[in-house]
Amino acid sequence: HGWARHTFVVQETPYTKLCSTKTILTVNGQIPGPTLHVTKGDTIVVEVQNKANYNVTIHWHGVRQPRYPWSDGPEYITQCPIRPGQKFRQKIKFSTEEGTLWWHAHSDWTRATVYGAIVIHPKKGTSYPFPKPHAEVPIILGEWWKEGITELYDEFLASGGDPNVSDAYTINGQPGDLCPCSKSETFKFMVDHGKTYLLRIINSALQDILFFGIAKHKLTVVGTDASYTKPLKTDYIAISPGQTFDVLLEANQPLADYYMAAKVYSSALGVEYDNTTTTAVLHYNGYDSRRNSSSTPFLPDLPSFNDTNASANFTGSLRSLADDDHPIHVPLNISTPLMFTASVNTFPCAHNSCAGPDGSRLSASLNNISFQLPSTDILSAYYYQINGVYGDKFPNVPPLKFNFTADVLPQYLLTPKKGTEVKVLKYNATVEIVLQGTNLAAGTDHPMHIHGYSFYVVGWGFGNFDKDKDPLGYNLVDPPLQNTIAIPKNGWATIRFKANNPGVWFMHCHLERHLSWGMDTTFIVKNGDHSDAKMLPPPPDMPPCS
Ligand code: C2O
Ligand code: CU
Repeated sequence: HGWARHTFVVQETPYTKLCSTKTILTVNGQIPGPTLHVTKGDTIVVEVQNKANYNVTIHWHGVRQPRYPWSDGPEYITQCPIRPGQKFRQKIKFSTEEGTLWWHAHSDWTRATVYGAIVIHPKKGTSYPFPKPHAEVPIILGEWWKEGITELYDEFLASGGDPNVSDAYTINGQPGDLCPCSKSETFKFMVDHGKTYLLRIINSALQDILFFGIAKHKLTVVGTDASYTKPLKTDYIAISPGQTFDVLLEANQPLADYYMAAKVYSSALGVEYDNTTTTAVLHYNGYDSRRNSSSTPFLPDLPSFNDTNASANFTGSLRSLADDDHPIHVPLNISTPLMFTASVNTFPCAHNSCAGPDGSRLSASLNNISFQLPSTDILSAYYYQINGVYGDKFPNVPPLKFNFTADVLPQYLLTPKKGTEVKVLKYNATVEIVLQGTNLAAGTDHPMHIHGYSFYVVGWGFGNFDKDKDPLGYNLVDPPLQNTIAIPKNGWATIRFKANNPGVWFMHCHLERHLSWGMDTTFIVKNGDHSDAKMLPPPPDMPPCS
């Protein structure tokens, strides 16, 4: 077919960071893994070879995969895991996306170390909607634990509450100058004075929304989630796990070195600034670092760790480019109005002491269903009509007026049910989902992500969604097109999309602990009547379920 081919060898590789060595899961021995460069409209084939001792799957985050969920990757949703010794050839089609996305493992918490950038260049004969940058670079934010990820995950499941916090955040895999034993490997980005650069920023962290900035430099956001935005000049960005930003950087400052830095935004945990800051260095070519004087480079001024307004206001300032070359298609008449409550639940912990395994730990839910992964993937159960794998009774809560953030909540919200309930959508349904956060166990932001789709974020706010008032303020002119949106702490966000991609598509909070606790569901989007509105058949090498 002339499709570009890539090989991803999943293997165990020893790495030393923060003065200690451990063996991690990598792709091709690298962290971050290889960057995929493609052109809009391309199809590529990635052969994933599992040479490690762990099950794995790979997901192409934000790639719509038109009519072809078979390569999407979430474990037990669209495939069973690629087991040690097996391989799986995944076909990835880039249709409407342009800009930056990423790939990551989608099996337990293996994505902690198995991730990389996807750069989608404009088609031949077209160009960026901004002046061509002098050069570009992926900036991937992540987390590092000294202990093994499998141990971390097992400890989390055996305890009642949140997992251990990471030992460092990372930029392109490196903790940076402020962390022990890290200085020599700190990521350095070299620039020429007077030139403009394109940073492709990705948050691959497991558990945290992050603030990111560069000392003394302005950032100009020009895209998010592989869709262009109106240029937004800012001192910092707030970036959720799963999200990507295309950012222009003008190298216009007089000294040799400046720190770029990321630190945690956490609306629920009290975390101190200094030991949670990861740094990389922006270095001006031809400038002597000693000119900086003996002191270290400037750090950017980032908002405080609990500054919910700083996070929500940044996210709320994004606007689609929405010009003649980049038209938008916001559904105006909604056939399927939905409301999903997103909760962390203490039930069934007795007296809030969530100290033990199943039955006595925190859970999480959407519309009060705490989603359980089946042992046969939902996609093949749907395609081959295998009964007993999932139910289609995901509760339908129409948008309503209700005090979801009250201290005392109705019993039905306090007692989530475990289940594998999917939401079935008709082909071409015009869907609106009001995502409402609740403050059950502790209110926090929830970066919600949908596979197979991008959606327009038409509104957001703090507190309870008001079905009479809030829709009057919806932006139907230039709302941003995203695949991940942080529902602000104890607040809401409304998204819209047209269900024109038949298949089986996972939806979940991109904080890994909430995903594991069940803040998930799955859409089954039915086939349409036309032959080009039907799911394509599976490839011959789908990994078997047993
Ligand atoms: Cu970034 Cu379900 O994925
Ligand atoms: Cu969440």
